[in-house]
Amino acid sequence: MKFETLAIRTQTQRGKQREHSTPIFATSSYVFDDADEMRQIFSDEIPGNVYSRYTNPSVKEFETKVALLEGAEAARATTTGMAAIFTTFACLLAQGDHVLMSQAVFGSTIKVMENYFQKWGITFTLVNSQDPAEWEKAILPNTKIAYFETPSNPGLQIFDLDAYGKMFAKNGIISIVDNCFATPYLQQPLKFGIDIVIHSATKYMDGQGRVMGGVIVGKNNHIALIEQFMRNAGPSLSPFNAWVLSKSLETLAVRMDRHCENALQLAQWLSQHQKIKSVSYPFLEIHPAYEIAKKQMKAGGGIVTFEVDGDLEKGKKVLNNIKMMSMSANLGDTRSIITHPASTTHSKLSPDQRSLAGITNSMIRVSTGLEHIDDIIADLNKALSTI
Ligand SMILES: Cc1ncc(COP(=O)(O)O)c(C=O)c1O
Repeated sequence: MKFETLAIRTQTQRGKQREHSTPIFATSSYVFDDADEMRQIFSDEIPGNVYSRYTNPSVKEFETKVALLEGAEAARATTTGMAAIFTTFACLLAQGDHVLMSQAVFGSTIKVMENYFQKWGITFTLVNSQDPAEWEKAILPNTKIAYFETPSNPGLQIFDLDAYGKMFAKNGIISIVDNCFATPYLQQPLKFGIDIVIHSATKYMDGQGRVMGGVIVGKNNHIALIEQFMRNAGPSLSPFNAWVLSKSLETLAVRMDRHCENALQLAQWLSQHQKIKSVSYPFLEIHPAYEIAKKQMKAGGGIVTFEVDGDLEKGKKVLNNIKMMSMSANLGDTRSIITHPASTTHSKLSPDQRSLAGITNSMIRVSTGLEHIDDIIADLNKALSTI
């Protein structure tokens, strides 16, 4: 079946009520017919639910769906995107291991390495390049994992998935991609030989700014390790959030089509505006990795970044004169959201780290929503006319 059909028709088995839409399995535990069955399910001799920290039908539906959409063998869902990232590192890394991490990743991902894994004897190198040869040079004998985002948040840097997949496989390194900005609808990194994909489901998967969630997809052997950690450590997604997320995936394809259409029009309009110094969008020909983006993505995504011609004060003035768009930290919502990454999402990074990640003080990020494009442009146009 095609992507859109899988997103709609992957559903928990219909129950005795003959419900059309899946109910929420709001239960923390499950019952057994007799002591023998209970023993067998507890010891994994026969399949079955024991406790919702381990498995839950609503969560399973979401996980099965994401695995199918990403073309993966298996998936496990977590409370948040950060929990998915922490869980993956905790499962795969041991004392003495080394991690290669892109400089251009979400601020908290770097902080998790700096504040926790480092003190547990794991070292890491932040790589400031999209050139696979530079990454290959940074590999150490104890490098276990390589981690990057494409497109990156918020710099929209693009990594050549085919080249990276091949290079890391050749070097026996587990490659992990945060696919949050693209979603599986626009890009499926596993098809290029990437080992593990992570999502903040809080973003486009929910798509309406309601619930938090994360998901890790990959091969059975990696997901089995993650499953064990989840059972022991417990960052499991709640049934309610899983139900919301699984329902939202039914409309992911149509939502992403419109997000991308609106974002491309916004980026084109900004690139012609006299008060704009620079615009970044993967499907604008002026993007330095336009050809790679075209090769591996179905469309350019919903995020556009730009810099106004002038100092930080001018950037602030634009933000303060926005009337319709929301000033908020999230992204991937139906509502357009405007942010200033340097003072919000990436404020915990040092100025050097920010500049290496391509985040300037005057950069403004727009998560283009699903409102009519004319209204989005009119809002920004009015705000720009004040500087
Ligand atoms: C690219 C990316 N990865 C991970 C995260 C973390 O996800 P969450 O907020 O669901 O923990 C975010 C959040 O903004 C993000 O943008």
